[in-house]
Amino acid sequence: MKQAIQPTKQTAIFMMGVSGVGKSTIGTLLAKQLEIPFFDGDDYHSEANISKMSKGDPLTDLDRHDWLHALNALATQQLKTNSCIIACSALKESYRTILETTIAASTKWIFLHGTFQQIKERIQHRNHHFMTSDLLQSQFDALEIPQNALQIDIHLSPKEMVTQIQKSLPLKTQFGLIGLGVMGKSLSRNLAQKGVRISIYNRHVPEVEEDIAINFKKEFKELASAQTFDALPAFVKSLETPRKIMLMVNSGPAIDAVIEDLLPSLSEGDSIIDGGNSNYNKTKERFDFLKSTGIHFIGAGVSGGEEGALKGPSIMPGGDAKAYQQVQPFLELIAAKDKNGIPCCNYIGSEGSGHFVKMIHNGIEYVEMQLLADVCTVLKAKGNTPDQIADILESWKPTTNSYLLEITITILRKKEGDDWLVNKIMDTAGNKGTGNWATIATAELGVPSTLIASALFARYTSFYKAERVAASKQFNSENISQPKITIDALHNAYQFARIINHYQGFKLIQEASERFKWDLNLSELARIWTNGCIIRSDYMIELVTIFKTTNNLLTHENTVQALKTRKSAIKKVVAECVLHELPIPSLSNAIHFFTNFITANSSANLIQAQRDYFGAHTYQRKEDATGQFYHTEWNLNEPKKPTEHGNTSN
Ligand code: 6PG
Repeated sequence: MKQAIQPTKQTAIFMMGVSGVGKSTIGTLLAKQLEIPFFDGDDYHSEANISKMSKGDPLTDLDRHDWLHALNALATQQLKTNSCIIACSALKESYRTILETTIAASTKWIFLHGTFQQIKERIQHRNHHFMTSDLLQSQFDALEIPQNALQIDIHLSPKEMVTQIQKSLPLKTQFGLIGLGVMGKSLSRNLAQKGVRISIYNRHVPEVEEDIAINFKKEFKELASAQTFDALPAFVKSLETPRKIMLMVNSGPAIDAVIEDLLPSLSEGDSIIDGGNSNYNKTKERFDFLKSTGIHFIGAGVSGGEEGALKGPSIMPGGDAKAYQQVQPFLELIAAKDKNGIPCCNYIGSEGSGHFVKMIHNGIEYVEMQLLADVCTVLKAKGNTPDQIADILESWKPTTNSYLLEITITILRKKEGDDWLVNKIMDTAGNKGTGNWATIATAELGVPSTLIASALFARYTSFYKAERVAASKQFNSENISQPKITIDALHNAYQFARIINHYQGFKLIQEASERFKWDLNLSELARIWTNGCIIRSDYMIELVTIFKTTNNLLTHENTVQALKTRKSAIKKVVAECVLHELPIPSLSNAIHFFTNFITANSSANLIQAQRDYFGAHTYQRKEDATGQFYHTEWNLNEPKKPTEHGNTSN
């Protein structure tokens, strides 16, 4: 990773040592490297001091008093806007005390030292140097070696000296993170643990969010060198350029508000990464807007929850490919690694494609969660306790493992007192909107990813708790026997539905890729999802290989075989559940979608006829391969009439 060289802006560097030691030479070189101003302290002497020195008379402490204060004023002034380097012999502790009055915290001392002989020889080689041997000796006599200075031996070459000094300077930070919620905190720690110098910012809201960044830093030792802020301009200043700033704030208007506040402090070429669950359409808008200001915008999906963000999330960055290169080393560093050690992070595509695929990731996640809930519904109806259900799911691990299966087993086993905790949790499922957007996207793109809608609407149905309780009293049949479903059949049904879920999710991504010309790589996306993210699973690892040969999962030999062998199981399971009034919204949707999809001649002909009847929307005929559109006057006994322009606008 690129090594930054600039110090933080608030450092006044005093280059000290006896005359002739090379303070101006080294100071000038260093200032050039750091792109900060250099001042030679000797230029600030009074006329009287200069004339005294030129006569070879040593200056007294009194002579130096005003001069030292003038240099202190110079440093103080510079610190308001910049770092600076000031060369000044500063031989005595008392001189140094004056020089750093009120700015000690922002002062860095560099002591150039050599032997009397070395320096004497150097002086003799210089023309017009006023220093005599006696004067030099008096400087050595006066010198009080500083305790808190970086000591640089002048036998090194100037280049070596500058390098050594640079290494010891407080450097500008490499990466900034805004928003210290759960995910922002975990990502900050992840970055810091990997050795990235970070600046972290959280807004200041009186009595609500105060000193968030400072207090967070105190909690974790890996944050010892992190710089903390609750003011954006200072946060931005602390970052090396081009700046890389990740936003981990709530999606929606908060993102635009932060961008607006950041803009005045940013410079052309800086990059902003939105790591939240933002809507991909908004990401494109922000991308276009920021492009006009010269700022790069990267919409990055980040999956893995709190733990993933800390230990290694799956990251899906989209936007400008060149801009991505700037942030790539950082994102890859903190990302989870796949089974071959490759980061679960790769450039996804242009515009909002990173956030689009994260949105569909969440859609798939909703379904995977609902399918497990459906499975538990069946197992519970068969009379199993949560512990027993956990044992059954445990036995599925060797063939069907996934992160969500694992956490479900842990959840089911968790007890609180005599009862299982899961039994005490209110059955109204929340959501933060990505499932909603994914359902809107599938509808807008005209892709039948029905399972995402089924899982979303199952959550929405759950909200109606009071009405459900009342309806259950009204409508539930009594004395329904246990469903006759074997564990094996249920397992097969679950596997069948998961295949349909992944087919539909990736199909939606593929269709979006074609529509928006994103050129997405499904195999690579599956690889990014093999670790770190919520939908990581053994099946996802299989998909990496499958998508290398086709973008249509349903046509792949393995899928065809897997669905064929499991079809009868899911039909039986769903039929039994319907008979026993067991709600399994996603399991049932999987077989309904499938049955619909494998019907060569569907009932859509009747839909077309109905549309044409009331709206003259026209229809195509099976025997006419040209695709010609027809309209019929359904109430008249007239022959069919081809239309001129195909579909009418009604
Ligand atoms: C992830 C998760 C994460 C979060 C979502 C879904 O990939 O890490 O998807 O982004 O859990 O916000 O939350 P809801 O279920 O509340 O919609």
